[in-house]
Amino acid sequence: MKLKIALLPGDGIGEEIIRQAVKVVDATCRRHGHEVEYARGLVGAAAIDATGNPYPEETHRLCMASGAVLFGAIGTPRYDNDPSAAVRPEQGLLAMRRRLGLYANIRPVTTFPSLLHRSPLRRELLEGADFVCIRELTGGIYFGQPRGRSEDGETAFDTCLYTREEIRRVCALAFGYARARRGLLTVVDKANVLATSRLWRETVRGMAPGYPDVTVEYMFVDNAAMQLIQRPVRFDVVVTENMFGDILTDEASVITGSLGLLPSASVGLHTSLFEPIHGSYPQAAGRNIANPVAAILSAAMMFELAFGLKEEGAAIRRAVTASLDDGIVTEEISDGTAHGTEEVGTYIAARI
Ligand code: IPM
Ligand code: MG
Repeated sequence: MKLKIALLPGDGIGEEIIRQAVKVVDATCRRHGHEVEYARGLVGAAAIDATGNPYPEETHRLCMASGAVLFGAIGTPRYDNDPSAAVRPEQGLLAMRRRLGLYANIRPVTTFPSLLHRSPLRRELLEGADFVCIRELTGGIYFGQPRGRSEDGETAFDTCLYTREEIRRVCALAFGYARARRGLLTVVDKANVLATSRLWRETVRGMAPGYPDVTVEYMFVDNAAMQLIQRPVRFDVVVTENMFGDILTDEASVITGSLGLLPSASVGLHTSLFEPIHGSYPQAAGRNIANPVAAILSAAMMFELAFGLKEEGAAIRRAVTASLDDGIVTEEISDGTAHGTEEVGTYIAARI
């Protein structure tokens, strides 16, 4: 098969972790007889510096013309510390999600036996934890209008807005995942307070009879934040709105022992995008210490979801597990000698 991949490293550690993912993609393609063609695009602060636009038209055209997008991270302290900046790197990520129609962000949370002791949670709480968070990605308070400031600058507002159709399409995907897994779908909302959450519940109630093999439960987000830590094994598929999903998936990453391990896939109307959930980690940029595993596992998801190549994805996952078992890991999860970003990437690629 011929794979056409857009590489968008973005900011911070994006460049160095994407480089490791590319090594692993190359090794996988060599091994399984695929041809791969990459094209690079600018996004985030790097794109603002070069063009003034955090998601340039040229990058959008490149994404639309590719079979998948492999994306690093966005954000830099230059902008984080300047709330007055009108053009911000994160706008590039949001524009990309919106324009590619990436309405569902799939974040699997799995534990690795060799890393259970790295989690701040007790081992007995973690064993067997294996769930998927499906986060709505192009609606809610991230995108709702109106948003802004009052004229006197003393009041600010954001709007949380959902249409029934926006809820339906992401929940249809979540029902599909639940059906293919253990059959439990947890809808996380704040229906005791928010009108949008009540529309989520009403919509899911209407859909549920179409999935008689799936058990649906509803959970308030505050309670979900607690239960994720208290009893992670109880979850199978969690579906939730944009901002709740953003927060809960960072929380969920603690279960695996490092934010540097969690991949994600964003899917929807056009080209799918694959990215680690950890962000740009600017303090580590250029220091060869960032964990490339989340980016590499994102590439595994890319093989499976964008190209339908399941065996290739599984091969990458096996190589990652081997590197963790062998202790070839970066400093934040290392018990002895820490390895660099490059070394971990090379090791995993060699295990394919
Ligand atoms: C994520 C990130 C982004 C988000 C930021 C960088 C805008 O935290 O992908 O989870 O909030 O969606
Ligand atoms: Mg986030």
